[in-house]
Amino acid sequence: MKFGHFDDAAREYVITRPDTPRPWSNYLGSTEYGAIITNHAGGYSFYKSGATGRFLRMRFNGVPLDMPGRTFYLRDKVSGDYWSAAWQPVAKPLDQYKSTCRHGTAYTVIESEYAGISTESTYFVPLGQTFEYWRLKVTNTGKARREISLFTYCEFANLWHTAQDLINLQYSLFITRAFREDNILGVVCNPNYDFDGKDLTGCNRSWIALSGAPVAGVETVREKFLGSYGGYASPDVVVKGKCSDFLAQGDNVVGGIQSDITLEPGETREIIVQLGLGTIESHGRKTVAEFGTPQRCEAELQKLKASWHAHFSSLQVSTPDKEFDAMVNTWNAYNALITYAWSRSASLVYNGERDGLGFRDTVQDMLGAIPLLREGVKGRLELMLTGQLANGGAIPVIKPFSHKPGHEAPPPDEEYRSDDCLWFFNAIPAYVAETGDVGFYDKVLPYADKGEATILGHLRRGLEFNLERTGRNGLPCGLAADWNDCIRLGYKGESVFVAFQVRLGLDVYAGIADRLGKADQAAWARAELKALDAKIQAVCWDGEWFIWAVGQDGTIYGTKNFAEGQVYMNTQVWAVMSGAATRQQADTCLKTMKDRLATPFGVMLCAPPFIKANPEIMKATLFNAGIKENAGIFSHTQSWGVIAEVMQGNGDQAYDYYRAFMPSAYNERAEVREVEPYVHCQTTYSRYNTNEGASRVPWLSGTASWSFYSATHWLLGIRPEIEGLRIAPCIPKAWPGFTMTRHFRGKNVSIEVRNPAGVCGGVKSLTVDGQPVSGEIVPASLLREGSRIIATLG
Ligand code: GLC
Repeated sequence: MKFGHFDDAAREYVITRPDTPRPWSNYLGSTEYGAIITNHAGGYSFYKSGATGRFLRMRFNGVPLDMPGRTFYLRDKVSGDYWSAAWQPVAKPLDQYKSTCRHGTAYTVIESEYAGISTESTYFVPLGQTFEYWRLKVTNTGKARREISLFTYCEFANLWHTAQDLINLQYSLFITRAFREDNILGVVCNPNYDFDGKDLTGCNRSWIALSGAPVAGVETVREKFLGSYGGYASPDVVVKGKCSDFLAQGDNVVGGIQSDITLEPGETREIIVQLGLGTIESHGRKTVAEFGTPQRCEAELQKLKASWHAHFSSLQVSTPDKEFDAMVNTWNAYNALITYAWSRSASLVYNGERDGLGFRDTVQDMLGAIPLLREGVKGRLELMLTGQLANGGAIPVIKPFSHKPGHEAPPPDEEYRSDDCLWFFNAIPAYVAETGDVGFYDKVLPYADKGEATILGHLRRGLEFNLERTGRNGLPCGLAADWNDCIRLGYKGESVFVAFQVRLGLDVYAGIADRLGKADQAAWARAELKALDAKIQAVCWDGEWFIWAVGQDGTIYGTKNFAEGQVYMNTQVWAVMSGAATRQQADTCLKTMKDRLATPFGVMLCAPPFIKANPEIMKATLFNAGIKENAGIFSHTQSWGVIAEVMQGNGDQAYDYYRAFMPSAYNERAEVREVEPYVHCQTTYSRYNTNEGASRVPWLSGTASWSFYSATHWLLGIRPEIEGLRIAPCIPKAWPGFTMTRHFRGKNVSIEVRNPAGVCGGVKSLTVDGQPVSGEIVPASLLREGSRIIATLG
């Protein structure tokens, strides 16, 4: 079943049936003023932190999943009939009520048609501002004059704190207060606390204003607006058509503003609602005066779109697969940047409790952002490097607003993750290759706790951390967790996944050291690599696949002698990606992976699921079979399968794996996946579960960055390297070719790949502006603005 389509030209996803399997969401704002909005205008807003800066309430895990939000109610003053400008919450019958929702890049437009009245509500946060717009256009499409009352509705959090707002009621219900000045309502928690009008962090003050029509009344207390038994579908005030003008002094404060308008046939009225931070005096009045007109609102919307679209213009593709293009050109790129911005902290599922930047997640999120933001990621990369401790491990979560390099306490030894700093070996070379900034490796940065080192030094400490913590076979310990949050092998248990990460790290390190002319460093890394390779070959190959791990007690996991979790995806793909597998091992283990783990919805993380395994070691046992780490299809890892197949030259297999988890491939049968068909998710139920195919935890996942990176850098194969752009596509044989436009080191270039022989890869000839180039790397020095690269496969 189809609920909408991609409008590629507008870079919008257009939902044409409002009764989506779940509310489908979008993001507004920036890391300063963030907001979530759904196709029903549900969602919430927060200042800097979803947890401790939350000022607009949404109750998590309700039915539906997104209420309350930012509702416009409409009421016909003559008939008394009422509805909402999004289908929910009033939910008029769909044979009478038409609605579309256009989710765009940090804005959402919801249109409705009902009873001869059409509406268009547009929601966004203007660039660099600390307020949100709700613009409402109301049109009389009938032949008679209409008298319509409009009402705004949203609930303010009683405290700017998600959990406290919901649980500390014996306190929080008595600290709220509403103020009014003409068309602006002020909402204050702790009104007697001083506020200097400047620092908005935790200021507990907000306002909402309506411009463009006279205000007929206000309702500021939740139970007065909704009625104690009314609810969002039939609020008392809307049923009766009149607000009381009562100003709250305690209880739950809501943003109810009423405006009564008359519409001649064909007439459109435009209302501007603004909701922002600070008080009426400090921010509200000024902001309304400056921004509260339709002209300014439209100009701000265009500015916002231009800014987002400029990021995407860094990399655009045209392939024979339009669903693939829709992802790469807009939605996957957007998803990657939103994930980069919010990590795992705010969505309809993440309620802010996972605040801050999870170390491993954030370093991986770089991969998607680097081609789009380029030098713009440098600060974040440096922040993460200063989250590394002098012993080479890392603080598990970095709090950007309070992080103090040189002064952070290291975690207890048993809490270190084994993989955290190893992700630098993916992110940092990608950054240097994109920008050409080789000098970055020489930059000196402090460690989180004490001391400092060059970035090359940080990388070395990262490797040493794992080389110093090895188990009975000399392989790296898994510690509190590796990438997989669900394994506890015991302190001395060994992670084969981490062994492969270290192998990749040593190899990358040796290459960097060569380039920097540090022969002793390169020799060190190569000697370690050789020794590690020998251990890997001695211990990790099981005959047809690579094992998963070795427990502290010597138990081998992921082996033919262990029924549950017998084959583990990650060690097959990382054996190939790290270069540890021989060609024959690579072919064999990828075949095993395909035979034992691949499904039409993606590759399962492992199989068979854990049922009896000790949950103290394999925490995956705690999950139902067929989801998340317990034989679910973990979206994050799918791109590793793609990259591994690309490295083997199997473009058809790589593409099949890619489409299996590509959201847009499910657009025509969106009821299967249930979540938004325009964004990635964390996990999909596999065949071991009765929910097979259904996906969960949309938006914020390492999937976003890896899938963008694997599509552009590996499948399409246009990969920045320090010398220039490597052109190494590995595509389906049936593709006649593709084109890409790409920003690279200050220049916009185009790349055309031709595939007359119907092969997966192998560049037969390469030209730049008509000049032949040998090999597959186009030197950066040959590129000019507008350069044309043509590669012919064969
Ligand atoms: C979640 C976590 C991530 C972890 C993964 C596998 O996606 O955010 O850090 O690597 O689960 O357990």
